[in-house]
Amino acid sequence: MLARLASVILPMVRAKLPCLADCLPVCLTAYSVAYSPAYSPVYSPACLPPFLPACLPAAFVVRPPDCVLEQGRVSDQRQSTPCVARQPAGAAPTRTTMTLTELITRQAQQLDAANVAFGHGTTNAFDEAAWLTLWCLGLPLDTPLATQTEPADPAHNPVISPDQQARVAALIKQRIDTRQPAAYLTREAWLQGVPFYVDVRAIVPRSLIAEVLAEGSIDIWLSSETHRVLDLCTGNGSLAVLAAMAWPDVHLTAADLSTDALAVARINVDKHGLNERITLVESDGLHAVPGPFDLILCNPPYVNAESMAALPPEFRAEPDIALSGNLTGGTDGMDFIRPLLAQAPAHMTPDAVLVLEIGHERPFFVAAFPGLEPVWLSTSAGDDQVLLLTRDTLTQWQGSHPGGEAQTNARTGGRP
Ligand SMILES: C[S@@+](CC[C@H](N)C(=O)[O-])C[C@H]1O[C@@H](n2cnc3c(N)ncnc32)[C@H](O)[C@@H]1O
Repeated sequence: MLARLASVILPMVRAKLPCLADCLPVCLTAYSVAYSPAYSPVYSPACLPPFLPACLPAAFVVRPPDCVLEQGRVSDQRQSTPCVARQPAGAAPTRTTMTLTELITRQAQQLDAANVAFGHGTTNAFDEAAWLTLWCLGLPLDTPLATQTEPADPAHNPVISPDQQARVAALIKQRIDTRQPAAYLTREAWLQGVPFYVDVRAIVPRSLIAEVLAEGSIDIWLSSETHRVLDLCTGNGSLAVLAAMAWPDVHLTAADLSTDALAVARINVDKHGLNERITLVESDGLHAVPGPFDLILCNPPYVNAESMAALPPEFRAEPDIALSGNLTGGTDGMDFIRPLLAQAPAHMTPDAVLVLEIGHERPFFVAAFPGLEPVWLSTSAGDDQVLLLTRDTLTQWQGSHPGGEAQTNARTGGRP
């Protein structure tokens, strides 16, 4: 159903607002999480919306238009999330009405002026403002907005009251003041048309491996014998959930060192009714996971030390352990990957493959593993950010690089 929904909505939005189309899955989380049966107690009855977009089924109702989630709480949303109508602190109340497009444009200017950073679902101020504004007002996320070349259709460019403007301004101010990614404020993120709960305990879902799963790029490396899949460094659990959806016959082990992240993953696994197919395991690298596996997916912490030091606050709002690839004393971002590659073959069946995201770290990867020749997988971010290694490639490389299998992790004493 989600795929069908996305296939209807995305082209419509793309036509009007190309960048928002890419972040729309994130935005749409607002619809699904807030009113899925498991999450319905999130909002007090006073905040329930009068609004049900005709294009969406009941499970996809917009979040309450009058409500801003209280930030900074990391408790399980299903039990207690206050829903607070807020006035914008410090912002002079406006008495004039304006259209939706004018409001979004104005809020985008605020984001631009404040120099906020993007990259958690949107890439620019207008898209981010559109997402938060539509979300805040409870408007359909496929609302056709004006483009640079086309004016807004008046039917989809409603007049926004001063009160509504104040609510949006408060949310945008919250985004600016806290420098938290928008998804932490909405507690929602979408990846490949699938909604995920998220809070500060786990990184915001955005792995490029999700594209690879959706596009079926690794299917040729799998077979009818592919049954046991490991999502190592599962974090929010998004890749495990997407893999379970992509391959109905596999069982997944989803492992992470962080119990905080695993609590978020638990919410997402339950939310998608996958608890019989995904087993969550607390594990430092491969140490505590059963095996062998037919496929290992891994989006590890891999950011090098110099890049970590230059991260904007929005990224520093995410757990350090999720990003820094230098937590055992290195600087090249490869602290997790080194022992992983050294020890992965022992956890792989003969025809197994490892799919690994390394982001912008290819130079460090090549320097750390000279002579290792992975298959590079195409993604929207480039052709050198996600790679695939067969067990054979890894063992052969280890054979020609004595010591490759003995790389140790200072913190784990050699356990990957
Ligand atoms: C980049 S995040 C990936 C999260 C998720 N898979 C995704 O793609 O959105 C990396 C994850 O690795 C976990 N991690 C860091 N060090 C680890 C270790 N030694 N063993 C297992 N997991 C680890 C972090 O807690 C974090 O959740």
